[in-house]
This record gives sequence, C-alpha cells and structure tokens, in this order.
Amino acid sequence: MSTNTPRIINTVSALREELNRARRDKQRIGFVPTMGNLHQGHLDLVARAAELSECVVVSIFVNPMQFGPHEDFDAYPRTLDVDCQALNATACAIVFAPTVREMYPEGVNTEIDVPKLSTILCGHHRPGHFKGVATVVNKLLNIVQPDIAVFGNKDYQQLQVIRTMVSDLLMPVEIVGADTTREGSGLAMSSRNAYLTDAERTTAALLYACLNRLGVALQNGDKMGVHLKQERDQLRQAGFDLDYLEIRDADDLTRGAEEASRAVILVAARLGKARLIDNLVVDLSAV
Ligand code: PAF
Repeated sequence: MSTNTPRIINTVSALREELNRARRDKQRIGFVPTMGNLHQGHLDLVARAAELSECVVVSIFVNPMQFGPHEDFDAYPRTLDVDCQALNATACAIVFAPTVREMYPEGVNTEIDVPKLSTILCGHHRPGHFKGVATVVNKLLNIVQPDIAVFGNKDYQQLQVIRTMVSDLLMPVEIVGADTTREGSGLAMSSRNAYLTDAERTTAALLYACLNRLGVALQNGDKMGVHLKQERDQLRQAGFDLDYLEIRDADDLTRGAEEASRAVILVAARLGKARLIDNLVVDLSAV
C-alpha cells in the first residue's frame, strides 16, 4: 500500500478538476463517504477501497439532512484535523470536506426516497433519516463519480437503501460492503461509541453477544419467538432502551427470515447518550 499526505479539497469544482486528472491517468476512483470522527473501522474501509482502486477519495461531511430535529447533529464530533492525520497513514489520496452551503447551496429542493426500506427498523424510529442518507449519498456519488464506493456492513439497512437506490436509478458505480470492525469485546466500532462512559462501553458489548446467541439458535433451526423475547428482556435489564431486535431476510429487509437462505439479526438500542446499532448475518442454506 502506498501512503501519502492526502490533499484536502473543500469545493465540488476543485474536486472534479482533481478527479478528471486522475481519470486521464487511467486511475480507478474509489470512494469512502464518512461523517468524520474516524476510527479503525473507517480506516479499514479506506484499505478495502485501496484494494479495488488507485485513487481513494474520503468525504468528511456531517449531513444535516439525515438528523432528526432532536438528534445529535450539533453534538456530533467534528474532528477534521485529527481525521486528516489518521488518513496520512492510509492510501487515501483526497479528503473531500465540503461545507453545508457547498453541499446544499439552494437548500433541499430534491429528495431521494427509497420508501419501503426507509420506513422500517431504523427508519421507523428515525423518520426521514434514510431520505437524508440517500439524498446526500446520491449527491456525493454524482460529485465523485467513483468506480467503486465502500460502505460498512455495520449500517446494514443503510447499505441496502444505497444498493437499492443505485440499482433503481441505474447509477454507474459498484457498491462494496465491508466487514464490521470490532473492539476486542465484540463492540462494533462507531463514532457514537465516544458518547459511552467506561461502564456503558462494557455493557455495550452485550449487544454482539446477544446477536451471536441468536445466530446459534437460528442455525440450530430453533423457533425464534422465545429466544427473541428472552434476549430483549435481558438487554432491557442490562440498561438498554431497545428500539428493536429483529430477524429479517438478509436480502430483503421488508420480509421475515422464514423462507430465507440468509438471515440478518438486527439490533438498535440506546445506552446513555449513544444510540447503537449492530447486526449479524447468518447462513441458513444448510438448515
Ligand atoms: O454512514 C455514514 O457515515 C453516513 O450515513 C454517510 C453514508 C456518510 C452519509 O452521510
């Protein structure tokens, strides 16, 4: 992997000029959209993009459109300098860090909606969230026009929304899902883990343990109703305010997993100031 100090670009026009040069040099463009406050999980996405392309662009933009009125848009950690330092040690060539005005010069007059997928699970608990995600990702993909774009599997529903948008709108980009990076405890890495106290961080690891127990039960062919109730009760007793713990068809989140060859167990729960999400995909083809 060749590393260098990435160029920081703040405007759409300067980014397009720079990327035209890369394209003239026959470089494949890889893209990793982020909201910054980078951790090892993001750096792993950059490494995956570098395996698949020669010019890796990382965007850092806290997108107001995907936050609800009472959510953490103002509090969301903005750490551009530290993020750029972290990217120095990676194959990232360009950091695109636009302002809100640069991304939404005329406000929001056009929205991208993937309605069936966007109103269930996290979409039910965060109305409008996935419209904000789909719209900004659509804009970012139009700006960067990458060959590939890498997203974390941790945001499983987000990835499905983006895949559906790209497929339905015939967008010429390959969407790549990358494995979730975890702490030693199993806790999925997330910028929002910064909101956890030390004690909450220990409790937070219970989410992944719960997903694994359910995964084993699913592979044993168990009826899942009782297991789900037990696990929901345990998470609540441990102090989580549970939004959902559900099992769905991994290829179509609008369906249950009864007929599925791959299931996904998804959880979203609040702990202290953090809202945490995680998931586990389970192969059911041999069950
Ligand atoms: O996953 C995220 O960090 C954000 O939702 C994304 C994809 C960068 C869009 O703002």
